[in-house]
Amino acid sequence: MNSLRVLRVPVDENESRRANRRDWDRYADEYQSTHGEFLGDVGFVWGPEGLTEESTRVLGDVRDRDVLEVGSGAGQCSRWVVAQGGRGVGLDVSERQLQHARRIDAESGIPVPSVCATATALPFPDASFDVVFSSFGALQFVADGRTAVSEVARVLRPGGRFAFSVTHPTRWVFPDDPGEDGLVASQPYWDRTPYVEVNDDTDEVAYVEHHRTIGDWVELLSAAGMALIRFDEPEWPADHDRVWGGWSRTRGLITPGTAIFVAVLR
Ligand SMILES: C[S@@+](CC[C@H](N)C(=O)[O-])C[C@H]1O[C@@H](n2cnc3c(N)ncnc32)[C@H](O)[C@@H]1O
Repeated sequence: MNSLRVLRVPVDENESRRANRRDWDRYADEYQSTHGEFLGDVGFVWGPEGLTEESTRVLGDVRDRDVLEVGSGAGQCSRWVVAQGGRGVGLDVSERQLQHARRIDAESGIPVPSVCATATALPFPDASFDVVFSSFGALQFVADGRTAVSEVARVLRPGGRFAFSVTHPTRWVFPDDPGEDGLVASQPYWDRTPYVEVNDDTDEVAYVEHHRTIGDWVELLSAAGMALIRFDEPEWPADHDRVWGGWSRTRGLITPGTAIFVAVLR
């Protein structure tokens, strides 16, 4: 692996997609071997705190519903939806992540139809889903959040529900460090300039994450015709001691790491 440097510079939608697709194709094997057991082949986890959809139920009843997962990775969450009687469909920009989905489909005996596409151009007709969700999927990887959210609104049926988890926006002020240093605020909350990793040898953008404030998300949902009905900030369980990137017990007991937005299409 080439060495990388971290920058805060603007990156547009095309470059974000190209970089993140390549990075997820490269990282998929390691991601699944590191986190697959925690996620569960037929498991729905909303984030590193381990909060499950089984316990929190932000999607409502998915039985007999058409349910789209955006940024579905290996499809663990959608497989749980299918196991509950929902018609789950996955979508991801990384072909390698989707190959893992097909492997787990075969191993578990619970297949999830999935497509390789991007969150900003959903390849589905208008009003084709009752529920759209994303668990740390595409939303924080796209530059064009407005198009991604309006695409969700387009494919939802009236009254349909959209729920998604992202890194809690307040985490943006801290370094991405699971230790004590990750509790010292050093970055303005309102600075939306993305986090970017650049390949030192080629100067190519290798990875991008985009930050939006809580207010930005509320505005994007509202502009797309959706109303926020729930905003969850999962607490770190006292007995949970798993480190996932910058998420850890040290930080999690003090400050939220995950935000779950739940909205309905008016
Ligand atoms: C952190 S993983 C989460 C996947 C799954 N929910 C899980 O918990 O394993 C993020 C996923 O978003 C996908 N992704 C990134 N950018 C995307 C985009 N523009 N459109 C669709 N998927 C995207 C990645 O390929 C990756 O599979």
